[in-house]
Amino acid sequence: MEPLNDNLEGKVALITGACGGIGRAICERLAAEGVRLVLVDIDDEAAQTLAASLDADTFVAALDVSDPEAVTREYERVTKEFASVDILINCAGILSNNKLLATSPEEWRKVMAVNLDSALYWSQAVVPSMRDNGFGRIINICSFAWKAGGLTAGTAYTASKGGMVSLTFSIALEFAGAGITVNGIAPCYVMTPMVSEQLTQEQRDATLELLPVKRFCAPEEVAHAVRFLASPLSGFITGEIIDMNGGLQFD
Ligand SMILES: NC(=O)c1ccc[n+]([C@@H]2O[C@H](COP(=O)([O-])OP(=O)(O)OC[C@H]3O[C@@H](n4cnc5c(N)ncnc54)[C@H](O)[C@@H]3O)[C@@H](O)[C@H]2O)c1
Repeated sequence: MEPLNDNLEGKVALITGACGGIGRAICERLAAEGVRLVLVDIDDEAAQTLAASLDADTFVAALDVSDPEAVTREYERVTKEFASVDILINCAGILSNNKLLATSPEEWRKVMAVNLDSALYWSQAVVPSMRDNGFGRIINICSFAWKAGGLTAGTAYTASKGGMVSLTFSIALEFAGAGITVNGIAPCYVMTPMVSEQLTQEQRDATLELLPVKRFCAPEEVAHAVRFLASPLSGFITGEIIDMNGGLQFD
């Protein structure tokens, strides 16, 4: 068993969607703890810029996370730089707000592929060495949509996040005895382009009215929960979905 400490220094974390609002906050938080970072994003230029801005050992893997062959290929490159990945954070995601009757088959497949399939591919890539090392942390950035039905989020997005929760439970159970924990974080309304650009002013105003805490979530708050779950000291927590919904739902 991994020693019971709270030290992340020297560990390797792979973050998908690293250049987004939440991904960047996670990278900055983990870099401050001495974690070595693999930055995965479809936007190569943004990933290179982010890598240069971080005071950490970094490796950039620019790819479309919904492409299983690209994931396999890039993971091989990653393991040449860093022997293995200790912490996987599946954060890449796209939002669509179309509800049932407006959802096309193409939109459904695209959202599922980016939000859900990618988490499967990356988990399959990293789990064998985590199992060999007897230590691993997989943290899936889900969404409050999975249990709320999607207040403003569309049908495909909501279903993709529900699938991610089930994927979390399934892998958590399978590898609980191998020192690998698999958990999710279910935020809502984090102040990133998903909220500032993909919601109308009217939707933002109505949401603020609804939220008991009367403010949007900050990306740093999600990064804080990621850092908590990544700790060796969090090894008894697995198959948990941490709600970050500003009091919208208690359970
Ligand atoms: N912002 C919110 O309110 C909120 C709430 C709940 C859950 N989430 C989830 O948090 C995660 C991050 O969201 P965010 O708000 O930072 O979004 P964002 O749009 O700021 O970042 C998403 C990142 O993913 C990358 N990306 C998109 N498609 C990709 C692909 N096919 N391959 C590789 N990279 C790809 C983008 O380039 C971007 O850097 C998402 O999974 C999202 O669903 C966000």
